[in-house]
Amino acid sequence: MSFIIEDFGKLNGTEQVKRITLSSDAIECSFITYGACIQSIKVPSKDGLIDIALGFDTLEGYVHQDKYMGATVGRFANRISGAAFTLNGKEYLLAPNEGRNTLHGGLCGFDKKNWAIEDADVNSVTFFYISPDGEESFPGSLSVRVRYTVDGNRLAVSYSAVSDQDTVVNIINHSYLNLSGGGAVGDHFVRIDSDLYLPTDKESIPIAAAPVAGTPMDLRQVSILSERLDSSFDQIKKARGFDHCFILNPSDFSASKITCCSDASGVIMKLFTDAPAVQFYTGNFLEGCPAGKGGAVYSDRSGLCFETGGCPDSPNRPEFPSALLKAGERFIQSTVFEFGLLPDSRK
Ligand code: GAL
Repeated sequence: MSFIIEDFGKLNGTEQVKRITLSSDAIECSFITYGACIQSIKVPSKDGLIDIALGFDTLEGYVHQDKYMGATVGRFANRISGAAFTLNGKEYLLAPNEGRNTLHGGLCGFDKKNWAIEDADVNSVTFFYISPDGEESFPGSLSVRVRYTVDGNRLAVSYSAVSDQDTVVNIINHSYLNLSGGGAVGDHFVRIDSDLYLPTDKESIPIAAAPVAGTPMDLRQVSILSERLDSSFDQIKKARGFDHCFILNPSDFSASKITCCSDASGVIMKLFTDAPAVQFYTGNFLEGCPAGKGGAVYSDRSGLCFETGGCPDSPNRPEFPSALLKAGERFIQSTVFEFGLLPDSRK
């Protein structure tokens, strides 16, 4: 077990950004204070340790991209339709930053803040940020913590947040993962324990929950992605791949909700979460991203995001799990990524 903290550049030439690296006997993960990002996840593959998280070697890389690479996204991740919602009878008008809708917290969301390190030890680091009342027009001063814990073959991500006024919250991690360590993700196998997904309209706003059964959105059995990505199913064609919210079937935290693996590397990942949903995004718009770690080129579909959290547009959709956080109450949510090797890949 080891813990390293180092400088990772200066934001606007003044504010120090730090990188923290936590290692167990199995995996090694790095995090940066800018965006409380996951900067790397090194896991055992059949060819030794490989980095399965897309990202950048320098702070400039993170500042000069708009893909939310590895970032903690909030105060409200995903879309709020019409850039507005009503809470306790009052309408809140947000900044529209994707057509007429608000995406990922607005113009300057949590992903663009330099978080403080509240606490760090050999297993974990806790990042802290206070989002002031009225920031991006959301009500209430919100104290947010993101804690990353590395333990054996597991990386745990835990959120906690408290507001002094009623507000809405949806905090997710936006890591792009490639379990082969690079290349296109079509060769990945994915399973998502979900009977229902949210089809979207042409502005990527959810319409109404629909059964996955009988459609290429059915990922309840481990399925290779390439066939699904090439399907002529309207929802997949329109989004250029998967970019949909799946409502996770309720089960115990100890039952994995998502599995993903790559035959090329032998890496298998299981996700455990108490979040009600996941936005599964196949990196359909990565083209144009600046060069990544070691000069890596990130083209469309070179990374997968499993954005465990709430449902898009839930402040406007009473039928979705509520995003309301009442004043003084604590929002808590966790996701655990567990890594292993496929049986055939073990030496
Ligand atoms: C995802 C979203 C995509 C895209 C991406 C960022 O969470 O669902 O549509 O906006 O973030 O590039």
